Amino acid sequence: MNQPSRKRVFSGIQPSGVSHIGNYLGAIRNWVLQQEQYDNIFCIVNLHALTLPTTAETLHANTITMANTILAAGIDPERSILFVQGDVPEHAELSWLLSSVTMYGELRRMTQFKDKSGSDEESVSAALFSYPVLQVADIILYDTDLVPVGEDQKQHIELARDVAQRFNSRYGETFVVPAPDIKKDGARVMSLDDPTKKMSKSDRNPASFIALTDTPAEITKKIKRAVTDSGSDVIAAPDKPALTNLLGIYSLFAGISVAEIEERYTGKGYGAFKTDLAEVVVEALTPFQQRFAELQADPAIARNVLADGAARAGAQAAAKMQIVQERMGLSQHRT
Ligand code: AMP
Ligand code: TRP
Repeated sequence: MNQPSRKRVFSGIQPSGVSHIGNYLGAIRNWVLQQEQYDNIFCIVNLHALTLPTTAETLHANTITMANTILAAGIDPERSILFVQGDVPEHAELSWLLSSVTMYGELRRMTQFKDKSGSDEESVSAALFSYPVLQVADIILYDTDLVPVGEDQKQHIELARDVAQRFNSRYGETFVVPAPDIKKDGARVMSLDDPTKKMSKSDRNPASFIALTDTPAEITKKIKRAVTDSGSDVIAAPDKPALTNLLGIYSLFAGISVAEIEERYTGKGYGAFKTDLAEVVVEALTPFQQRFAELQADPAIARNVLADGAARAGAQAAAKMQIVQERMGLSQHRT
């Protein structure tokens, strides 16, 4: 059971290649900042990564890279559980059970499915469609109170609430109804080449995002080339989406308010602002990159953390699944 004094946090991230500053500012950074306050479980969702074509080698390598990204960002495996979804089979099992209390119409309304399938609905995997049910299972399997994520996941967390409530009313109080934890700042970092699109690792143009592993030269080049708005004032405003985005990034990495930054660059123009922004981002990412390189050089560290995490998460998941099976009338006959 949860300690009554500390809320349970659960969040997940796909092991799909490079992480960018949107993943960091929208999710991972908040996990780290709130680590002491909550009882945390973080999950590398390799089963979710199967929804789009991948290979065994790539998925395996990306899983370790993601573990090292999370550890280098400051998640302490002594304080938080870090594990890989596929290591705990209860996720897939609960997902099937929950698909019986999820409506087809609910899944059809998920905007992430519409975005990812595009005009290709006939040939995307069925897993891409049922993806949100697995996410609901991830969350409610651990009596989660809070789910820290970026803005794009809001609809999935709302589905988790609806499914948990529906299950509880059909089978009796079983699941905690989770709430999204989406911050006002950083929850939607926009693309550098088009401030109307969110920054995304699947973007074909690598200049549209800053990867956490980009070199100082790459970061500086990408920021210099980032689109700006007409005019020359460094201010955040509804008609200045590009500057609003860059100011937001500056503010979160430097730990100073947007108003202060605006004041600092009054009359100075975009060039000076971008030079300093590049420096701020490089400086903020340097310690991360050093730790990340050390961890990548010694993959046994991640493997040990993940083995321990799977054991701890697995014990909780097994206990919860037993209750779920009883509630649903799935009696066990295997001895
Ligand atoms: P994903 O890489 O899709 O598994 O996303 C991992 C986490 O990063 C989720 O909590 C997302 O909501 C968050 N995220 C992804 N892209 C962005 C973005 N551009 N801005 C803020 N958060 C994001
Ligand atoms: N769908 C999430 C994303 O793309 C990843 C995810 C899977 C997740 N399971 C989760 C996030 C559970 C929070 C909680 O970002």
